[in-house]
Amino acid sequence: MAERLAIDGGTPVITEPIPSGMHGPSVIDDREINAVTEVLRSGKLFRFVENSNVAAFEQEATARLGVNHALMVNSGTSAIICALTGCGIGPGDEVIIPGYTYIATAAAVVGVGAIPVIAEIDESLGMDVADVAQKITPHTKAILPVHMQGVPCRLEEIVSLARAHDLKVIEDSCQCVGGRYKGKYTGTWGDAGAWSLNYYKVISCGEGGLVFTDDYDVYELAAFASDPAMPMWMSDKEWANQPFSRQCYRPSEILGAMARIQLSKLEDILGHTRRLKKAFLSELADDPKGYIRQHVDDPDGECGISAAIIVQDDQLAKKYAEALKAEGLGAGTAYNQGFPDRHIYCYWDSILKKQSAHPSGYPWNDPAYKGNVEYSPDMCPNTLSILGRALRFGFNVNMQEDHARLMAAVINKVDAALG
Ligand SMILES: Cc1ncc(COP(=O)(O)O)c(C=O)c1O
Repeated sequence: MAERLAIDGGTPVITEPIPSGMHGPSVIDDREINAVTEVLRSGKLFRFVENSNVAAFEQEATARLGVNHALMVNSGTSAIICALTGCGIGPGDEVIIPGYTYIATAAAVVGVGAIPVIAEIDESLGMDVADVAQKITPHTKAILPVHMQGVPCRLEEIVSLARAHDLKVIEDSCQCVGGRYKGKYTGTWGDAGAWSLNYYKVISCGEGGLVFTDDYDVYELAAFASDPAMPMWMSDKEWANQPFSRQCYRPSEILGAMARIQLSKLEDILGHTRRLKKAFLSELADDPKGYIRQHVDDPDGECGISAAIIVQDDQLAKKYAEALKAEGLGAGTAYNQGFPDRHIYCYWDSILKKQSAHPSGYPWNDPAYKGNVEYSPDMCPNTLSILGRALRFGFNVNMQEDHARLMAAVINKVDAALG
């Protein structure tokens, strides 16, 4: 006999709220406060100063990631834009992105004048490699995989597909800062990677981003894309490529100082969240009746900041979500009534309607574009089906392992009754 659910008048499993909070911002202490204060007191807020914090952050990130070059910018979106530019992506090019990612991924592609092509996801909640293969056209120049909620996608297969078609890979690792895949950091598998350091991310400096790559040319072109005056600020440097003018995504020393301290806390944050996820999984039933677990290609490397279960059908998923809530456990679902989730492609209105910043209708009407991409809200039915059945849970540094076990116990109870 399954235990009576709280929604049916039973006793809720969770009686004290599970602690909430962001990752990086939750661990801010005197070290960040002092580092930022020191910059303010020095009055030297511009990144091109002696002993620059931004430059030091770039070096420290380079060493941690084991890459040759890193460039700090002012957001994850600008990091993707600079990475795309660094890889030579521009007008006329199609870039394949998953249908489940923040709208910024698609916007970055549009930002360089290229065309986002939207591919399905699979039970990994990352790109469906078979669908990506089908969406390659003569205009495709790059694949842009995204590691959502700290879980690396099927990176090895994606990179080998890209190489077989001579395509670039730009990894959106904005939600997977510090995540590893088969021993190598996410973002370092392709031609360039991007981190976001915004408020919601694993480490944060409020707003910020990082582009990283092994390829010097990619780095240099990304650097030009980040600051039209780069050759002026670095006038003693010999450039290998011809400088060009673009937007300005330059970060300040305040961001650099805070990012350095947060980077030094990255492994502690992830050590904690990975322990939470392990505790959660060790409690979760091995033989659930009504759902499957999200496929995680490399459980050792993931950040441990999220877990997802995929229920058999969407009606049942709604029932699970309601029952879990009554037990004290909120789940992320695709049914945010009245609040369009910009992480799901069908809510990317400006992309689906090809809304341009200019009457010319670029990038879709750009004469350089010879393809005919079409969008519609139902163009990726598998993505909508999976997300419609997925229930997502988050782990954060304010939680203890007992909280994670309790979350799993709630899911076990609901599954035993409804599955
Ligand atoms: C997957 C993904 N890509 C890109 C971005 C853009 O990062 P930012 O907000 O720092 O511009 C985000 C931010 O939420 C994200 O989640």
